[in-house]
Amino acid sequence: MGRVSGNMDDRLERILFDQARIRECIAAMGERITADYAGSELTIVAVLQGGVLFLADLVREIRLPLRLDSISVASYHGGTVSSGTVTFHQSRLPDVAGRDVLVLDDILDSGRTLSAIMGRIRDECAPKSVRSAVLLSKQVERAVPVEADYSGFAIGDEFVVGYGLDYCGEYRNLPVIGVLKEEWIQSES
Ligand code: IMP
Ligand code: MG
Repeated sequence: MGRVSGNMDDRLERILFDQARIRECIAAMGERITADYAGSELTIVAVLQGGVLFLADLVREIRLPLRLDSISVASYHGGTVSSGTVTFHQSRLPDVAGRDVLVLDDILDSGRTLSAIMGRIRDECAPKSVRSAVLLSKQVERAVPVEADYSGFAIGDEFVVGYGLDYCGEYRNLPVIGVLKEEWIQSES
């Protein structure tokens, strides 16, 4: 069972966004997307694993016929600092020829993940359009110049977990977004 831990919520030093704020933010985003994509052939492509909770809640706020797909990548390989390379876990790309694509990810940080995925979809899938939506956007200098078309909350340069976001594969199921206590982060030096 690993370390004795008690409740997972006790591992957070600070909660940035609780369930009510997340719900409100996603409802507003869903309303904008519903208006913007009325009459179009929309496919939502979620970035796994982090984007799944956001996907599940956002699509239920979009009142349009749409299709779902996903793409699995990794850029962290375990720590709290991005490795700088985006690894695609599968060679198959979504079948979105002629469709309007909205790529969903949990968070925009260096921009490498979103730009790698959007670039491949644009170059290899012949979509009608490709845009992006993220729940969180870190206010940091991007390694790659990309901004999301739909962005929920802006945050500072700190490592967050919960609501899909993980640390070493855990905490994705926390219903809130917060910052881990130092004692739960393994030393990376
Ligand atoms: P980027 O490629 O640097 O923009 O990073 C985006 C990806 O890194 C996201 O899809 C997340 O999986 C991960 N990531 C970035 N920041 C955080 C964080 O604070 N907590 C957990 N995962 C993060
Ligand atoms: Mg991710």
